[in-house]
Amino acid sequence: MTVKGQCFEAVFGRPVKVLGEAPGRVNLIGEHTDYNGGYVLPTAIPQKTRVEMAPRDDGLIQIATMSVRGGTQLSYRAGEESRRGLWLDYVQGVTAALRDRGVAVPGFDARIESTVPLGSGLSSSASLLVALARALRAMLDLVIDDVEIARIAHAAEHDFVGAPVGTMDQMAASLADENTALFIDTRTLAFERIPLPAEAELLVVNSGVTHQHASGDYKTRRAECERAAAALGVPQLRDVDEAAAQRIASLPAPLDRRARHVVTENARVLAAVAALRAGDLVRLGELFDASHRSMRDDFEVSVPEIDDLVESARAQPDVFGARLTGGGFGGSIVALVKRGCAARVGRAVVEAYARVPNRRATVLVGEPVS
Ligand code: GLA
Repeated sequence: MTVKGQCFEAVFGRPVKVLGEAPGRVNLIGEHTDYNGGYVLPTAIPQKTRVEMAPRDDGLIQIATMSVRGGTQLSYRAGEESRRGLWLDYVQGVTAALRDRGVAVPGFDARIESTVPLGSGLSSSASLLVALARALRAMLDLVIDDVEIARIAHAAEHDFVGAPVGTMDQMAASLADENTALFIDTRTLAFERIPLPAEAELLVVNSGVTHQHASGDYKTRRAECERAAAALGVPQLRDVDEAAAQRIASLPAPLDRRARHVVTENARVLAAVAALRAGDLVRLGELFDASHRSMRDDFEVSVPEIDDLVESARAQPDVFGARLTGGGFGGSIVALVKRGCAARVGRAVVEAYARVPNRRATVLVGEPVS
């Protein structure tokens, strides 16, 4: 059934009862640290997912989404969630996670619309999960705080959908805003909002190369980190102390490089928080650059298209630093740019990228609001 362009009432024949919204995120620094118990520093982007919802009394759950080409509608029965390998699994994951927590989820109709581009590395899935959990919280008057919403969203993606992701994206979608960086200790989910400097702005450029979280590469990296931690005799790479750090160089390749990335990246998040607090944009930019080199050379999650975008951003005046953001294997870069300059830098980067045939990059954050 095609539902593109239709409002909730046109699709379901009755008015909306509640709304849930959540943004996508861009991670400033702290990549592949979350499933190692470490630190991350994401912020919200303007793009978001919106879920409109109304309850049903027959146990049927009907979901119309505008985000799949042409728009589409699928359904299942409350309490009969089963993985189908479709986008609907994200919705089923949320209702299953709520049920696991003792919530009696009734039937409902929902319409989903998102401006977070799929496959851009900006967490379209976490924004959907959190928006949906928020709509259900509102509809069912649930007393659940935003950290618990993130845990529910994470359980949906990790346990139900089966993507072995950490907790950064769900925490960001649930708790981040656009004016602050969300400093999270992913081991405890303790968080702190740190104001972003007024003198800088963020530029996010999508390479057009799509990543796939559930894909083997992400899983392989995670498994390598677990093997490295075991070989170093620590529960997680977060726990590497000075003595264990001495032993990293003697790990077999590539575990040595993987561990080095995670340990140095964790330290870079703490240094970035200090730089933000001190308003030291030059230092923050250096940390962006160092993070990119570490992801490229030690963690090996970059691709040539992303390296080119990072290099051409760094070659522009008024850029403090640039790096791959998100899980990698494509996706987007984030650059820290002097305020007022992101639009110009974005244009230059997109133009340089297009000089290679079949490459098209898009500025996702950093265009002046028209
Ligand atoms: C993806 C995952 C996150 C995190 C990042 C890499 O976005 O969903 O949990 O691991 O990759 O930092």
